[in-house]
Order: sequence, then C-alpha cells, then structure tokens
Amino acid sequence: MIITIDGPAAAGKGTLANNLAQKYSYAYFDTGMVYRAVGLEMHLLGKNMEDKAAALQIAQNLTFKHMHELAKNPDFRSSLGGKNASIVSAYPEVRAALLKMQQDFALSPVFADGTPAKGVIYDGRDTGTVVCPHADVKFFITASAEVRAQRRYQEFLQKGMKADYNEVLADVKARDERDANRATAPMKPADDAIIFDTSDLSIQEVTNKACEVIDEKQSC
Ligand code: C5P
Repeated sequence: MIITIDGPAAAGKGTLANNLAQKYSYAYFDTGMVYRAVGLEMHLLGKNMEDKAAALQIAQNLTFKHMHELAKNPDFRSSLGGKNASIVSAYPEVRAALLKMQQDFALSPVFADGTPAKGVIYDGRDTGTVVCPHADVKFFITASAEVRAQRRYQEFLQKGMKADYNEVLADVKARDERDANRATAPMKPADDAIIFDTSDLSIQEVTNKACEVIDEKQSC
C-alpha cells in the first residue's frame, strides 16, 4: 500500500507519517530530505542558492547514503536549511533529477535497517500529485500559519536551538508562498486527497481519522 501525506511546513505531516508507519509497519520516506540535502550541500560548498547549475549537479549525484550523512548536520533541520531547501526545490530541473529516486522507493520499500516493508508512507508537498499519483490513500494536512509557526518555534526550543516566533512565522509564510506558487509541482492537494485542517485537532485525533480511512481502504 502507498500512502501520501502532503501539506505546508509544520502542519504535522512528519508526526502523522511516523505514527502511521509504526502502526502499520510501513517504511517512511520524508521527501523534504532530498531538497534539504541539496540545499545543505550547496551551503557547505559555499554556493549561491541562485546557482541552478550547481544545484542540478548536486541533485543528479545525490544518493540515499549521502542524504542520510548530510541529515546529521545541525543545519539540515534548521530554519536556514528549510529556506535553502525551498529555494532549490523551485528549480524544475532539480525536481526532475530527484523524482526517480523518490518514485523508486515505492517499488521496493525498506526500513532504515534495509529489511523490506509491505507498504510505504511518503510525506512532502507533491507526493500525491507528482511522485505517486497512483497512491492508494492520499492526505493533505494543513493548519493556520500562526499555529504552524508556534509548533515549529516550540520544536526549535525543545531541540535547544535559538528561535524568534516572529521570524519563524515570517519564514513559514515565505515558504508557503514559494511552495504554493512555483511553476513546477506546486504544493496543492491532489483531486482525490482527503484534507485535514489540524489547527484545532491533536495529533492523536488526526492519527485516528487517518487510520479510519486506511482501515476502510484495506478492508475493500
Ligand atoms: O518538509 P520539509 O520542511 O522538510 O521540506 C523542505 C522544503 O522542501 C519545503 O519547504 C519545500 O520547498 C521542499 N519540498 C518540496 N517537495 C516535497 C518535499 C519538500 O518541494 N515533496
């Protein structure tokens, strides 16, 4: 089974994806990682984020192994990491170069230790529209920018990272704008996606609703 979860930054996609992956014993692909990896590699090489050719070359050579190595860098999950990922992800050539790597994962999904899984959960912005348009179940998770900024701000504090709420809010809004308005694979719900607004829902409530949909699909 293939399940996709798309939506804006800090809407709760990652937590929902992890909960579902655990409950159903499915592999999990956080597709934001591929763009974060390209953005971080650009940053580490001192490249300007506007340098599309450099971003493309990095994208073409990206492997899962290198992506997971880059993920250990503290800047991978930082605000800057998110911003850089959002900039490089707007380049159509970069998206095209990273598409096969994302799609291939569903052909033989594996857990982190390499053992095979009987299903996969994708999270991202375009996983239900572009990466896996044939997915069995598609969710689009959203929440107000203020609620999402508050969640991201708390996450940074819990990780011991410095953060300013107003800066996080401005960053969330800027990323939404870039992700929703880029020409290639803009962030939007697939026509057949189930949409959840999590502004007033706990993660447990969202998880329960998602499980109802999946269980019904599985019983068909
Ligand atoms: O989800 P995450 O915050 O890690 O994603 C980082 C950035 O990568 C997003 O802001 C978005 O610009 C880009 N992205 C994308 N398509 C995806 C996943 C992430 O464009 N499927």
